Amino acid sequence: MCGIVGVLGSHEVSPILVEALKRLEYRGYDSAGIATVNDGHLDRRRAVGKLINLSDELVHNPLPGKSGIGHTRWATHGAPTVSNAHPHQAGRVAVVHNGIIENFKELRTELAAHGITFVTQTDTETVALLCEYHMRDGTSAAEAARKTVAQLDGAFALAFLFDGEEDLIVAARKGSPLAIGHGDGEMFVGSDAIALAPMTDRITYLDEGDFAVLTRQSLTIWDARGNLANREMRQITLENTRINKDGHKHFMAKEIAEQPVAVDKALRAYLDDTGTITLPDGLDFSGVERLTLVACGTAYYACMVAKYWFETIARLPVEVDVASEFRYREPPVAPGTLAMFVSQSGETADTLAALKYMQDKADVIAALVNVPESTIARESDVVLPIHAGPEISVASTKAFTCQLTVLLMLALKAAQVRGLPLPEGMPEDLRALPGLIHQSLASEAQIARAARDLATARDIIFLGRGQLYPLALEGALKLKELSYIHAEGYASGELKHGPIALIDESVPVIVMAPRDALFEKTISNMQEVMARGGRVVLVTDADGARTASEGTAEVIIMPQVPDALAPILYAVPAQQIAYFTAIAKGTDVDQPRNLAKSVTVE
Ligand code: G6P
Repeated sequence: MCGIVGVLGSHEVSPILVEALKRLEYRGYDSAGIATVNDGHLDRRRAVGKLINLSDELVHNPLPGKSGIGHTRWATHGAPTVSNAHPHQAGRVAVVHNGIIENFKELRTELAAHGITFVTQTDTETVALLCEYHMRDGTSAAEAARKTVAQLDGAFALAFLFDGEEDLIVAARKGSPLAIGHGDGEMFVGSDAIALAPMTDRITYLDEGDFAVLTRQSLTIWDARGNLANREMRQITLENTRINKDGHKHFMAKEIAEQPVAVDKALRAYLDDTGTITLPDGLDFSGVERLTLVACGTAYYACMVAKYWFETIARLPVEVDVASEFRYREPPVAPGTLAMFVSQSGETADTLAALKYMQDKADVIAALVNVPESTIARESDVVLPIHAGPEISVASTKAFTCQLTVLLMLALKAAQVRGLPLPEGMPEDLRALPGLIHQSLASEAQIARAARDLATARDIIFLGRGQLYPLALEGALKLKELSYIHAEGYASGELKHGPIALIDESVPVIVMAPRDALFEKTISNMQEVMARGGRVVLVTDADGARTASEGTAEVIIMPQVPDALAPILYAVPAQQIAYFTAIAKGTDVDQPRNLAKSVTVE
């Protein structure tokens, strides 16, 4: 969602701010803006739509200055218009904000009582006006910002810039992440280290509740209780901040292609050459009696697959829920519960809130994340990194297959610890995964061809059974996210309980069916679809294709795999179907409309 940058530099900052905002584009946004202080004078430029519009605005109306803040906005309160875009300015104060100020209406009423008027519908304008109000009696800029932040409820990351202050940025974090970058005689602030990577690899992450005052030479941080705080400065590995497409047309194409390497990394982090799976200290399945898995979006579907693995392989009861439901359901928690929160970004607001609910209830809180320094990781007892590397495309791909890979290893380990036999060939067969994923990428050309037909449909249905059911859901989610075609995933056994009413010649049906124990049943459901004129794209293996191709419009053949690996492998065609359908429709693959990569508000 919204991205924040700030620079106290030694050169003109406008181009630096725009470049940093470009690196935050992946989070999703619909308007952007920057503010600078030049010769003591605070000014700003903003534009709706992509950053190119802001760059155009800056060509016509340059914004000089060596200190500045910038923002990409994903609209929450108020439409994506220039006047609602950040930075918000009130007199001497400009502010950029990520998150939601929950008490902004109350604050507006208080300010209105002092005759203060508003020009936007945003919660953020309230912050700028409140700070400006506190400065009226001569209170210093930093002190006014501190007073302002103390009055705010909700989740936020904020950066303030002030008229007349060329060597000052104030930053605050509550709920939304914020990183401070150290340069040589320069200081930076950003929503993440990726934004700051071209400027510096020396990063200090603000903790929850921190308030920071930056100058070019100094960084002073106070914690949530107002005490001076010492936060570690880390040298981050640039490999984790490199964002380029490596010759691919889109980040998504690159990230799909990277899966053999990413999954290999995930495997090696937990599985050694002797076939031993090692978990981090603090995670021991011997005392675990039930597992609660909570996540959002694609990560939730990874949890749904994991439920099949934990229950069938490790005989461990699993509860799975989407975080936004789980947190308000307030479920009772029995002793012996391991609560695991799965999140690529580690910043999803609902997942974090669900985690907080479980903090004093579960025996152990584990985070399965791609960003080890994320909030969800930091709030957990045990962190399980998935090692996917930076994922930039809004639609999750390699993080999903890496989440699945780590979850499968956890299920195998749980089975071992509980004295159960592993499925034949496990865990050694896991090592074949990168090669198998590589092979499955080869269906690309065929999928691209099929996608040209899919792109003409108005509705598309995905079917799967057992551990492939969540893959049907994931396939449908990916497709609707990227191509804006209405798509639904169903458990194929549910077909006759409703969705079959939708089937006619105009509705393509994608059937995910490896030749496993449930194959025949899924194929019967597929026959029911074809009997009603439905155009079927069957994704199966060579054995499956031999027996079930007849009458299908297209058969996509996956490598033959041990049962447990099928959901990981079948993720690839699900991703490619969405990718190539989006290409055929000409939609914005990496930044689909209205979507954000990291959903930091409820
Ligand atoms: C957004 C993204 C999805 C992602 C979901 C959960 O909706 O567009 O790709 O699966 O958030 O994100 P997380 O970072 O918690 O995995």
